Amino acid sequence: MATINLTVNGQQRQVDVDPEMPLLWVLRDELQLVGTKYGCGIGSCGACTVHVDGIAMRSCNLPVGNLSGEAITTIEGLSENGDHPVQLAWLEHDVPQCGYCQAGQIMTAASLLANSPDPDDAEISASMNGNICRCGTYTRIHAAVKTAAK
Ligand code: FES
Repeated sequence: MATINLTVNGQQRQVDVDPEMPLLWVLRDELQLVGTKYGCGIGSCGACTVHVDGIAMRSCNLPVGNLSGEAITTIEGLSENGDHPVQLAWLEHDVPQCGYCQAGQIMTAASLLANSPDPDDAEISASMNGNICRCGTYTRIHAAVKTAAK
C-alpha cells in the first residue's frame, strides 16, 4: 500500500492503494467515479478510456502509481453540465444503444478533437477504431464526431 496523490477532474485526491492497482479500479472503487466502465480489462475494448494530460488512455491497465502529478479527466469531468461539444453531438445523433461503451467512446472522441480539431473520415476511423461497441453504433459515432468537429 502507498499513499498516492492524484489530480482527478481538477481536484486533488489522495488514495491509499497498491501502486500497481489499475487506475480504473481507483476511479470506480476508491473515488466512486463509476462513469468509466470495465469491459475487457486487458486494454482491448476502450470502455475504460479516460484522459491523462489530455491524451485518451485505457485505465484498466494503467498502474495508478505512475500517475502522480498527471491530470486525469473522466467522463464526469469532461464538462460542467454535459455540454461538451462531443456530448451535445452524441445527443443530437442519438448515438447510444445500450450505452455501456459510450463514456469511453466520448472520451476518445474528445481527445481526438482536442488534438486534431478538424479530422477527416480516415482520421476519425483510425482514432475510434479501438473502441468497441457491441451494439454496433459505429455509424452514429462517426457522424457525431463529425458534427462535434464543426
Ligand atoms: Fe480497458 Fe477494455 S476495459 S480496454
